[in-house]
Amino acid sequence: MSKELVQQQFGANAAAYLTSTVHAKGASLQRLVELVQPKASWVALDVATGAGHTAAVFAPHVSRVVASDLTPEMLDQVKRLAHERGLTNMDTAIADAESLPFEDASFDLVTCRIAPHHFPSVALFLAESYRVLKAGGIFALVDNVSPDEETTPGFSKAELRDAAAGYNAFEKIRDPSHGRALATAEWIELIEDTGFALIHREHAPKAMDFASWCKTMQVPADTVIRLRAMLDEAQPALKAFLKPSFVDGKIGFMLDELIAIARKPA
Ligand SMILES: C[S@@+](CC[C@H](N)C(=O)[O-])C[C@H]1O[C@@H](n2cnc3c(N)ncnc32)[C@H](O)[C@@H]1O
Repeated sequence: MSKELVQQQFGANAAAYLTSTVHAKGASLQRLVELVQPKASWVALDVATGAGHTAAVFAPHVSRVVASDLTPEMLDQVKRLAHERGLTNMDTAIADAESLPFEDASFDLVTCRIAPHHFPSVALFLAESYRVLKAGGIFALVDNVSPDEETTPGFSKAELRDAAAGYNAFEKIRDPSHGRALATAEWIELIEDTGFALIHREHAPKAMDFASWCKTMQVPADTVIRLRAMLDEAQPALKAFLKPSFVDGKIGFMLDELIAIARKPA
């Protein structure tokens, strides 16, 4: 059911993801390339590629990139993007992140950006990424995280648990295909449990424009009002995490991306 919801939500809004500022221009795109230092001989896989922004930023640096996604309409956007940028080394593939249709040890790099919060099992996605990577291959992740002691210090565990639940509810009301954004410590534990050696991690705060965030998913007017009220009335820990701002009729809030780079042992 959750995967059907993903295909419905993203199938209906695919074109908006090609131009969405946080996806097309987010700072984590260039930062990923800087951190990964891709090599010209590499074959890369981008999981849950959306409109293909992450695949496209790596394409000029590697020999080939496979941009994969569960939603066919998204892959149409990837083809448009590759055509517009003259990228001839990008292929597309329909693929579920939890059951990748690729041979063992077939990629030098697996990337996945702003998507695992949709996956029913992040552990399965990590196991599949590990399987398709060659020994010594690199796994590069960006995803929105839930509030915890690291992102939002000064609150009790109970307050942070409520804030994490509130943040995920906020996302799910806007996009019913949202599953759960993990907290940073959960990510690190799962990455290491899969067998990867963590090389680097950092947080990248990102400023969100509330109106564009709603528009990308064509959120109905009554739901927009409900989401606005959630921002306005959030408990202190959630407010400290989302940092809502209401200035001259323009609403903004903050999200936090975890960037993690890990290696499959040689
Ligand atoms: C926000 S978009 C991804 C953004 C993109 N990675 C980027 O860097 O711009 C989320 C994507 O995840 C895909 N998705 C969600 N669940 C998936 C799954 N289980 N397997 C593969 N793709 C999935 C959706 O179809 C959608 O295209």
